[in-house]
Amino acid sequence: MTKPLPIRLGINIDHVATLRNARGGHHPDPLRAAEVAIEAGADNITAHLREDRRHIRDDDIERLITNLTVPLNLEMAATPEMLAIALKTKPHAACLVPEKRTERTTEGGLDVYGQANLLAPYVAKLGDAGIQVSLFIAPELREIEAAARIGAPAIEIHVGPWCDALAEGRAREADAEWRRIVAGASAAHELGLEVHAGHGLDYSTAATISGLPQIVELNIGNYLIGEAIFVGLGESVRRMRASMDGARAMLRQSDTAAAVSGGA
Ligand code: PXP
Repeated sequence: MTKPLPIRLGINIDHVATLRNARGGHHPDPLRAAEVAIEAGADNITAHLREDRRHIRDDDIERLITNLTVPLNLEMAATPEMLAIALKTKPHAACLVPEKRTERTTEGGLDVYGQANLLAPYVAKLGDAGIQVSLFIAPELREIEAAARIGAPAIEIHVGPWCDALAEGRAREADAEWRRIVAGASAAHELGLEVHAGHGLDYSTAATISGLPQIVELNIGNYLIGEAIFVGLGESVRRMRASMDGARAMLRQSDTAAAVSGGA
């Protein structure tokens, strides 16, 4: 049985920048949003510097690195341009994601199995610079094994298909996706990978996934920035923190109960 560790909450602030860029200018400021999120219980800040700079811009990354009091997780495509920026700015962590110009958001996971030769040097160079690398992948065994093989210390499981299936009432698909996530988290942990999860999470799905003891970090953006319109950003982060921590505490209790009854 995997001992449940504390679970970190990474807040993705991309869509604060989306809103700012819709009008141009400086408001709302992603750095200010990051500071509010940290005050409300975020452990990390995540930002995706896209090739087209549709939300986060280069100067945002520099200001975040200079001013943040918690680790920055830079989401980036595996391209020479992004690698050069990461090596120059030195975020605490980098999550390699696939990127297509025409997509509205990151659509699928990386093809680590098929592109191992392309991705391995990125993992190595970022790692050599002291940046913790994670690979954003579907919970498929061959992807997980390929991630371990090319030396990635962490993966982020793409939970978007599970969240979408739940939201759209496709119960059977949601159930199948969930089983893939559970098996994937366990397999990745067995291989010594640190396991993160993200994409499409809300209060309820974040609580459910916090019940998996192998998962030590969630990265959440769109839902919380949307909720901020109704309850404020600090409150939306506090509610998320509470749902994750509540689920984790229940997991610890059930572990203790299992250990007690197992030992009786
Ligand atoms: N993790 C990764 C790798 C992502 O690409 C995204 C979306 O930018 C997220 C987490 C956050 O997803 P969401 O905004 O749907 O919470």
